[in-house]
Amino acid sequence: KQRVLSGVQPTSDSFHLGNYLGALRYWVALQDEYDAFYFIADMHAITVAHDPKLLTQRTRISAAQLLALGVDPTRSTLFVQSQVPEHAQLAWVLNCLTGFGEAARMTQFKDKSAREGSDHASVGLFTYPVLQAADILLYRAHQVPVGEDQRQHLELTRDLAQRFNSRFKKTLVVPDAYIIKGAAKIFDLQDPTSKMSKSAATAAGLISLLDDPKVSAKKIRSAVTDTDRDIRFDPAAKPGVSNLLVILGALTGEPITTLENGYVGKGYGDLKVDVADALVDFVTPVQAKVKEFLADQGELDRILTTGAERAREVASQTLSQVYDRVGFLAPK
Ligand code: TYM
Repeated sequence: KQRVLSGVQPTSDSFHLGNYLGALRYWVALQDEYDAFYFIADMHAITVAHDPKLLTQRTRISAAQLLALGVDPTRSTLFVQSQVPEHAQLAWVLNCLTGFGEAARMTQFKDKSAREGSDHASVGLFTYPVLQAADILLYRAHQVPVGEDQRQHLELTRDLAQRFNSRFKKTLVVPDAYIIKGAAKIFDLQDPTSKMSKSAATAAGLISLLDDPKVSAKKIRSAVTDTDRDIRFDPAAKPGVSNLLVILGALTGEPITTLENGYVGKGYGDLKVDVADALVDFVTPVQAKVKEFLADQGELDRILTTGAERAREVASQTLSQVYDRVGFLAPK
């Protein structure tokens, strides 16, 4: 079996619809066909200022959500990044192969450091994509299911793998980004030219999976559209309507063209009601399962501990090969 790996940051109390439609649903879909490794990127979450208690809590909420969405710890390895020390260890080696300018060109770093202000932006934020490369390369992953916003980090990962292999010896697998056209970028409902993100100026355009479904339905009914009346997929001219069609298509499994045909002669109100209904149908059972998983914290923590043990078996092998190839003297 080929291997798949992906991660998600535990940076808020709920994943949002972009996380699910752009990435997490593929985590679930790929876990039988692939040897799957999925993790909660808590080390990435401390690259910006954070509250320690909240981080612990959000790590558990993230795990509960992944389980509720269908990540099955008997079919895939689910773990917390900081419980596998090899991530930080490989990251150091890769840091030493990464050019300063190369890291400085990462657009997420540029955006986030501009937001933090250069005195507050940490070195951890700068080297964030290198840690991400370590996450992926440790497991010799072939496929990495992520949203469009991670494409540049995947390119860096590929470059670093190739660089390591050519400078030392062929050791690392060069991974492919698994980015599916369509829902790889879900947009903010109030600002449909920006991606849906927890760091948006207001939460009015953000659909959180764990929000009260009534609140989410209302946000969908208030989504920004445009002034004509046609319901058709045309992201350049009609970003708001197109985003709603993408969301509806992804939630119901209906092709966009089928949806378009069904709305001939209908209005934006009809489309919004259908999106809101589909969302409520989707999140309601997920929320019930999240509650169940969170109710037994001991069991949740055990699932993650077992996952980390399995992850370390793979990670430690790659790391010792890497250490050997860069010339570190092995302990006897
Ligand atoms: P994170 O936690 O920001 O997001 C998790 C996943 O959700 C995707 N995503 C979106 N997809 C479509 N539309 C959106 N509006 C949207 N917003 C987010 C992201 O692309 C991502 O796949 N750096 C990563 C976490 C990470 C990682 C890794 C991923 C750390 N190490 C190794 C893969 C492999 C991140 O911040 O994702």
